[in-house]
Amino acid sequence: MERMNTPTATSKPLNVSEIRKDFPIFTRHDGRPLYFLDSAASSQKPLSVLQAMDDYYSTTHANVHRGVYQLAEHATELYEGARFKIGRFVGAPNPSREILFTKNATESINLLSTSLTRGPLHRGDVVVLTEMEHHANLVPWLIAKEQFGIEIRYIRIDDNGYLILDEIDKILEDAKVLSVTLTSNVLGTLNPVAKLARLAHKNGAIVIGDGAQYVPHIATDVNELGLDFLAFTGHKMLGPTGIGVLWGKADLLEDLPPFLGGGDMITDVRLDGFTPNELPWKFEAGTPPIAEAIGLGAAVDYLENLGMDRVREHEVALLSYAFEKLESNFGKDITIHGPRNISDRSGVISFDFNNIHPHDISQILDQSGVCVRAGHHCAKPLMRHLGIAATARASFHIYNESADVDALIDALAKAQAFFG
Ligand code: ALA
Repeated sequence: MERMNTPTATSKPLNVSEIRKDFPIFTRHDGRPLYFLDSAASSQKPLSVLQAMDDYYSTTHANVHRGVYQLAEHATELYEGARFKIGRFVGAPNPSREILFTKNATESINLLSTSLTRGPLHRGDVVVLTEMEHHANLVPWLIAKEQFGIEIRYIRIDDNGYLILDEIDKILEDAKVLSVTLTSNVLGTLNPVAKLARLAHKNGAIVIGDGAQYVPHIATDVNELGLDFLAFTGHKMLGPTGIGVLWGKADLLEDLPPFLGGGDMITDVRLDGFTPNELPWKFEAGTPPIAEAIGLGAAVDYLENLGMDRVREHEVALLSYAFEKLESNFGKDITIHGPRNISDRSGVISFDFNNIHPHDISQILDQSGVCVRAGHHCAKPLMRHLGIAATARASFHIYNESADVDALIDALAKAQAFFG
C-alpha cells in the first residue's frame, strides 16, 4: 500500500463535538435534525472560511493585479497568499508559479485537455483513462477525441472495484497522457497512483491526477504521488464553491498554450496578436475568484490545524464502524460497492439496498434528516460496468460521527419496513 493511503502514527482523535461548533449549519434552528452524509458532493463550511470571505469583502475588496493603490495591493497580497498556502498544502515545489485558480476540478481538467490538444498533443496520440472516472475526467477527453482525433484507452476494473493492471504495460505503450482519479467518488477505491505514474513516465507520458475526492481527506504530496498535474476543487474541502485548483510542474505549464483569453493573462496585446503573461497568470483570464481563493486558503488553514493524518484516521474509523453496522444490521439486503479492505478506501459508501430505487431511499432517509446522494454520481460508464443505473451514497468528513451512521441505520430500517 502506498504511504499516503494509511497514516502510520495513531494520533489524538478528532474532537468532533468541538469541530461541529465551528460549522454554523449544525446549529441552525429549523427543528429538523441534520445528519449530513453528502460531503463527497459538497462539504459544509466552517465559520473561519465564511469570516475570511466576509472580512475580505468588508475591509479589503478591490480588483487584484490592477490597482496601484494600497487597497488593491492588500487584496492582491491576500489572493496571492492564498495561492501560496494552497500550493504548500499539496507539496507544490513552487506554489507561486505552479498553482492556477479555476472554477472547479472540472475546469482544471478542461484546461489541460484543451491546452494539451492546442499544444503538444497530435491527432492519434493516446490518452489513458480508467473505467471509474468521474465525467469531469472523461468528457473533456471525449471532446478532444471528437475534435482533435486523440485515441483513448481505458484501464478496466475488476469485480472488487480495483483497477486491473495485468496489461498495464500494453495499455500505456506509447501513451502521451495518463489521467486518473486518485480515488473513485463512487467506489472509494484508492488507486495506486504513484505506481501508475512510474510506469507512465517510463513510457514518456505525462500524468494527471484528479484529486477532487482525495485532497480534502488525505495528506497529499504531488511529489510522492509522482504527478505532473493535479486537479482539485475548493467546495469539497471546506472551502467555497466557484474555485478549483490546477497544480502543474512549471516547465510543463510554460510549454502549454493558454486556455481562456482576456485580461490579466497577457503582457501585451496588439491588433495582430498577443504575448501571454508569466505563470500562473497566463492561465487566469479575467477577474479571478478573489474571495473564493481567500476562503479556500482559510479552509486549508482549518484542515492543517487539525492535521490531515488525523482527518484520515477519523474517516477510516467511521468507515469501519459504518461497514460493521450496515452489514450486521442488513446482511444480504445491502450490497456495498468497492473494495472490502477499509485501508484501500476513501470515505464514501455507495450501496444498493433491497433493490429499492436509490432516489426512494434518499427521500425516505431525508424524512429522518439523513442526507445522502442518490444517482449515477456523474460516473455513467462505471454504472454500466456495475450493471446498475444508480446507487445511494453516504460520504464523510471531519464533522461526522458515529451518531450519523446510527441515524443512517435507523432510517434504512424504516425504508426496509416501508417497502416491506
Ligand atoms: N462529483 C461530486 C459527487 O461525486 C458532485 O457527488
